[in-house]
Amino acid sequence: WFKNVPSAPADPILGVTEAFKKDTNPNKINLGVGAYRDDQGKPFVLRAVREAEQQIVDARLDKEYSTITGVPEFSPLAAKLAFGENSEVIRDGRVFTTQSISGTGALRIGGQFVEKFIQSKTLYYPTPTWANHLPVFRNSGLTILPYRYYNKSTLGFDAAGALEDISRMPEGSVILLHACAHNPTGVDPTKDQWKELSRVLKDRKILPFFDMAYQGFASGDVDDDAFALRYFIEQGHNVLVAQSFAKNMGLYGERVGALSIVCDSAEEVSRVGSQMKIIIRPMISMPPLHGARIASRILNDPSLKQSWLEDVKLMADRIKSMRAALKEGLKAEGSIRDWEHITNQIGMFCFTGITEEQVQKLIKNHSVYLTNDGRISISGINTGNVGYLAKALHDVTK
Ligand code: LMR
Repeated sequence: WFKNVPSAPADPILGVTEAFKKDTNPNKINLGVGAYRDDQGKPFVLRAVREAEQQIVDARLDKEYSTITGVPEFSPLAAKLAFGENSEVIRDGRVFTTQSISGTGALRIGGQFVEKFIQSKTLYYPTPTWANHLPVFRNSGLTILPYRYYNKSTLGFDAAGALEDISRMPEGSVILLHACAHNPTGVDPTKDQWKELSRVLKDRKILPFFDMAYQGFASGDVDDDAFALRYFIEQGHNVLVAQSFAKNMGLYGERVGALSIVCDSAEEVSRVGSQMKIIIRPMISMPPLHGARIASRILNDPSLKQSWLEDVKLMADRIKSMRAALKEGLKAEGSIRDWEHITNQIGMFCFTGITEEQVQKLIKNHSVYLTNDGRISISGINTGNVGYLAKALHDVTK
């Protein structure tokens, strides 16, 4: 039956972890996957998550089926986190939200919705973008096309290129936007650039699909990081938004996320919601309970929420300090390259700008693991390994 099944290549991001695990060098460092580590290099379970989990165990809740759109109390809380406490569209009942299998699941069901109901069936993605975006949207049946985003020579946002490409997108297309902390580049538009993008996209009648996987990780503040999304909504855009709680609550393997769709009316929400259920049910029946229960408790309880927000800030601050330490370390090694972008970029990743050949040298000669595009997950750096990393990075770039 399976004689003709060919081997597939490893996943460009998760495959890095597989290779890392096989390496026996005691100094090895995994800077591949974007998963936060503490300064001892250990996975970090947030205090609020531990506490909420304890409360759930103590409450001896049952394991009955959830609903097709997930744990009922979760969706309104997730929407409020994305759109803001005083969101007008929420107050007017214009937002449909469903729980999803983390951000990926939200993108997938959102992609399927676009495929079914948006006539153009075409989604434009920024170059570069998260490696998994492409198969997720392709598997949703969409035509995917690139638009310019990152300028290799300025190491910044290619505003002119993006605007020019947008001006050529046919009306009725969908555009994928990273709400904050762009993955993999760590380069976001400024507030003024977001405003310009909003204006042009509105004029061109392009539907924004926001991927908000890192709310809190760019600035350390969940409201600041929602600026672009909230601004677009204030300007009257209908949008789709995929949220992930993997990074900001550290709920990676629990797969907690949400998809929201901002509609024109409550009546539209009801029609859209009925169709979303039809998309979700044959795919996964319904999303799981546990992670959404944890997130709901945290978002609903002022003291757990406070503790959570403090830990978000702590994670964002540690990442910032590791950016500075790496830049300093490279200088101390004698590197004469310009490494300013390490501290200018934001979020979990640094797009180092090194070549694929240099990436391979880092892996082979130094057991420093990263994705082929030169992206490093800053969360994998700590005070114990930053010196080793700086030496290795200098060695392959001098
Ligand atoms: C990453 O980009 O490393 C993360 O989003 C994790 C993943 O699933 O790829």
